[in-house]
Amino acid sequence: MAVSKDQEMLRLHGRRVLIAAGGGIAVYKTVELARLLLKRGAEVRVMMTDAATRFVHPTTFAAITGRPVGLQMFHDDGSPEVGHLELPHWADLVLVAPATADLIAKAACGIADDLVTTGLLAARCPVLFAPAMNPSMWEHPATRTNLQTLRTRGAHVVGPETGEMAHPDELPGAGRMSEPSAIVEEVLRLLISSGDLAGRRVLITAGRTEEPIDSVRMLSNRSSGRMGVALAEEALKRGAEVVLVHGPMDVNPPAGVETVRVRSANDMLAAVQDRIDRMDVAIYAAAVSDYRPKQALKGKMKRENTPEPVLELVANPDIAAETASHCPGITVGFALEAGGDLAPARVKRARKGLDAILFNQVDAIGADTNRLTWISDRESEGETSPSASKRELAGWVLDRVVNFLRASP
Ligand SMILES: Cc1cc2nc3c(=O)[nH]c(=O)nc-3n(C[C@H](O)[C@H](O)[C@H](O)COP(=O)(O)O)c2cc1C
Repeated sequence: MAVSKDQEMLRLHGRRVLIAAGGGIAVYKTVELARLLLKRGAEVRVMMTDAATRFVHPTTFAAITGRPVGLQMFHDDGSPEVGHLELPHWADLVLVAPATADLIAKAACGIADDLVTTGLLAARCPVLFAPAMNPSMWEHPATRTNLQTLRTRGAHVVGPETGEMAHPDELPGAGRMSEPSAIVEEVLRLLISSGDLAGRRVLITAGRTEEPIDSVRMLSNRSSGRMGVALAEEALKRGAEVVLVHGPMDVNPPAGVETVRVRSANDMLAAVQDRIDRMDVAIYAAAVSDYRPKQALKGKMKRENTPEPVLELVANPDIAAETASHCPGITVGFALEAGGDLAPARVKRARKGLDAILFNQVDAIGADTNRLTWISDRESEGETSPSASKRELAGWVLDRVVNFLRASP
């Protein structure tokens, strides 16, 4: 599947990157780094050591990110603008740039004597260090040992490069912070390429369909598209290339996915047919009208001409049933049923030839939370999710899709 340049640019959409800036000259490059991450769609926040603020004013980062910069742990009035654990717990990745010899040493020893070092100790997400220092500091055994300690504990390191130093009196050597573009590539690799759907092509249908009665009226349903969009966002976060075939929705499709906008069930079928044979995963989350008016009238049906019109309906194609067998990968559908009986959903899964079907109850439509039961003849059969937001459920569903993929030959 071709990923457009715009989509590629936005691969970090929705990912939260916390920059921990240390006090080295290279922090001027961190300004550009923050800008590049934002351009890639990431949410970026910054915390700075006291030394870092001597090189670049926090206002620069605050202006670029549009968010307050974390600076101090203690405040005279006791109410910090940025809480001491707020940022590390918010982040998907902490990027220490520049990572000074001092920050590397403190992190290796577990010292937590300011906002940045406390944040590094509290972070539970991946931490990427971009060291920057002069060659003598870089080559010092203390720095080498400290960095090795961090690596052993799972930290990631990008650079440094060999070349000219920022200070004109310094001899060229190893210790230059990697270029912002190279650091962004490493962030991408850590956040996206290492995701459990990296390199997988995922097609998701979402939203409702609209079946014309005449040129102004239509037959539709109340689906908001939230579940499909949450699945697309989650698949994107896990590194997948995502194509979202969607009808009208109450929410916007996420940036970074290929979108195919359709209206009717027939249009949706054609869009899915065009792509299904290249997919590793297909999730049918759209609420497709089961029926459509037999004939869509041109113009507007007039009350005077047809005081009691009878709408003749014909069945729409069953998109999942017609396309699932053409998907070389895993296919997952949704079964919206009244009542708690799982039997009709089991029958539906088998009839449509899907690998799994997610049973949910009618009152989920348009709601903010939902509960799903995974029905399959293999992995995860019969598991029911907790009642959760559609975003959380998307994670639950994709965990099971990934298990299924791993178990597939
Ligand atoms: C002009 C100047 C440039 C510096 N550049 C670096 C540097 O590139 N890397 C580094 O590790 N330390 C550098 N230092 C020393 C750090 O600022 C110093 O070790 C400081 O305590 C680091 O604090 P931090 O790790 O809390 O940011 C520099 C100091 C000065 C005055």
